[in-house]
Amino acid sequence: ASNRKVMVLPGDGIGREVMQANMKIIDWLAKYRSLGFDLSEGLVGGAAYDAHGTPLTDETLADSMSADAVLFGAVGGPQYDDLAFELKPERGLLRLRKEMDLYANLRPAIVFPALVDASSLKPDLVSGLDIMILRELCGGSYFAEPRGIDVREDGSKLGYDTNAYSTPEIERIGRVGFDLARKRNGRLTSVEKSNVMHSGVLWREVMIRLHGEEGEGVELSHMYADNCAMQLVRAPKQFDVIVTDNLFGDLLSDCAAMLTGSLGMLPSASLGDIDPDTGIPAAMYEPVHGSAPDIAGKGLANPLAQFMSFSMMLRYSFGQAEEADLLEQAVSDALAVKRTGDIMTPGCEQTGTDGMTAAVIDAMDRLAR
Ligand code: NAD
Ligand code: IPM
Ligand code: MN
Repeated sequence: ASNRKVMVLPGDGIGREVMQANMKIIDWLAKYRSLGFDLSEGLVGGAAYDAHGTPLTDETLADSMSADAVLFGAVGGPQYDDLAFELKPERGLLRLRKEMDLYANLRPAIVFPALVDASSLKPDLVSGLDIMILRELCGGSYFAEPRGIDVREDGSKLGYDTNAYSTPEIERIGRVGFDLARKRNGRLTSVEKSNVMHSGVLWREVMIRLHGEEGEGVELSHMYADNCAMQLVRAPKQFDVIVTDNLFGDLLSDCAAMLTGSLGMLPSASLGDIDPDTGIPAAMYEPVHGSAPDIAGKGLANPLAQFMSFSMMLRYSFGQAEEADLLEQAVSDALAVKRTGDIMTPGCEQTGTDGMTAAVIDAMDRLAR
């Protein structure tokens, strides 16, 4: 037993497959490093809808909020496409983020040496890449009101979402951005569209003021989101930390994923404020990818984004930097031996989720010896 309470939410599709693989890493840590977790498992997304008629029950939400950290897989699937909006699997994930107030989503895009050739970009553009996309996760067009679909007088409909950000919302994500940049290479790029959006104007204004007040040691620059998308594929190594809103962050991080070779390589940590009693942040760890219906059930999913999300949990929630380093090194070593289909390059041995997991565990065995 331990006091590391973790709520495990595998979700749907390959979420379940990569989570099962993650359990083998957790077992290894218990066996060979005496690192135990107090695990509970729950349903989320389509799985929760199938069992309970809702993508997230109040009980699962309460269990998640009382855990020290949540480990999340992925949700969604075409069989749920026609459900009412509030019942869709994705609502379960969004409700967790919102209710737990996980406003800071850290999405690191790192190119492992072995994967330089797996990227769709030229090797010299991505080799050595290490950038951090910081996505605001509780506001903007995902949550701001008003939103909905109205029927108009002429019988036609109007679907709308609001992209709004308040000063406090921008300040708290901005602060995380300056802190992250300070711990890295000291450069923060704030991304918005202040040329066309009011929320972008305020975003830039607040970032500039915050920089003056508490941005010491950080070089702040500003970029329009469309240019940022272009710069990410033109010269991604110019960035250190990118801080941006909820929707731009969603798009730019999928884009950054391909620099690393695959969406199956990108982990994330969704963090809230630090609890003064425990000293750890409210936290959920979730790979950036989805439930991948096109490959689900075939044992083909790349489990590495899930493993590295777990490694972020070791680091940010439990201060287990040594084990996190070990796991990340093992991932790097395993890539030299075996690859799932999404990151295959000629000359490598192709494998599935189980084979990739076994290769990581073999590497951990070797490293720990
Ligand atoms: P997706 O991320 O599920 O898949 C996009 C493409 O990347 C697919 O071709 C898929 O096979 C591939 N891919 C993704 N992860 C992979 C992995 N680990 N290994 C190998 N290949 C991988 O995105 P989508 O197809 O647009 O969405 C499918 C469902 O997932 C939708 O319901 C969507 O809403 C949901 N989704 C959920 C999350 C989440 O739970 N965090 C994130 C994104 C999408
Ligand atoms: C992500 C996903 C989610 C998002 C969906 C599934 C709600 O795409 O985590 O990137 O849009 O935030
Ligand atoms: Mn996304």
